[in-house]
Amino acid sequence: MKKVVLTGDRPTGRLHIGHYVGSILKRLELQEEKKYQQFVFIADLQALTDNASNSKFVADNILEVACDYLAAGLDPKKTTLFIQSLVPELTELTVLFMNFVTLSRLQRNPTVKDEIKNKNFGTSIPTGFLVYPISQAADILAFKTDIVPVGEDQNPLIEQTREIVKTFNSLYGEVFKYPNSLVSENQSQRRLPGIDGKQKMSKSMGNAIYLSDSEKDITDKVMKMYTDPNHIKVSDPGTTKDNPVFIYLEAFAKDEHFKLYCNEYNNLDEMKTHYEKGGLGDVKVKRFLCNVLNHELEPIRKRRAYYEKHPEEVMEILMKGSKKAQKVARKTLNEVKKAMGILY
Ligand code: TRP
Repeated sequence: MKKVVLTGDRPTGRLHIGHYVGSILKRLELQEEKKYQQFVFIADLQALTDNASNSKFVADNILEVACDYLAAGLDPKKTTLFIQSLVPELTELTVLFMNFVTLSRLQRNPTVKDEIKNKNFGTSIPTGFLVYPISQAADILAFKTDIVPVGEDQNPLIEQTREIVKTFNSLYGEVFKYPNSLVSENQSQRRLPGIDGKQKMSKSMGNAIYLSDSEKDITDKVMKMYTDPNHIKVSDPGTTKDNPVFIYLEAFAKDEHFKLYCNEYNNLDEMKTHYEKGGLGDVKVKRFLCNVLNHELEPIRKRRAYYEKHPEEVMEILMKGSKKAQKVARKTLNEVKKAMGILY
């Protein structure tokens, strides 16, 4: 039996290179492995939990995210791509699972707590928002998922899912197995900082480089990137640690890029050594980063342009994937109802 891998994204904007490095690359790797069956979905219902007044925004972004997936190389022949709300079984499972989780447990979830603070809900927390960890557990369990490749911030949600498994199985028999998160080992692959050097790249902070950005957008953004503030003159020694330009290079630069665009170094280590010693200017490093990013993103941009022009083809892929996902979720839902004695 193949192991099931599942991840999703909220459709609240186009995907940026932080998503690419942090999750898309992993998915591309996993989809090539025969021992895995991969599901990737667009979590529109989860996005609505904090965008209740803005459903059109969420709906419009479904296509944007789907175009990014396909452009980045997710292949519908190998990975099932679907839309959360087109699998209503997930919602039904959510309702059943809600009875196994207490309100105080939801209020203690560290990820949810952080989000409540950041989103300035105050005391007006939408119920749907507070409950989204249960819906996320339903997403994961409906497919009998083994592995959830996510960022560290998602660990509390996997933990919540495992608790539901424990409670459900102890009450109604071994219906579910325990899913595990898969957090990538390499620091630079986990989270890219924004171009302003802030900890997180995000749309709301306006510090992101998008997969859909043009060559000019990328050049403009890289040229104004935050670097080492103490590296003033070219001859000054600089630091590469915590320097976003070098963090991006660590994530994207390959030795072949040096041959093509900056052949006085063989690899990133040599470039870093020079920067740290002094004598290597930021502009030169940034020009190299522009070349590297454009080299890597150009094929993605081209494919994206194709899908943007063929939205009906993209929707067709999502519809097909959703039907396939629904079959699996239906089977699990029936098992759950049968175990609970409510399959009438
Ligand atoms: N919470 C995830 C995010 O904000 C999206 C998501 C929804 C998800 N359901 C999931 C991720 C199930 C992994 C598994 O990006």
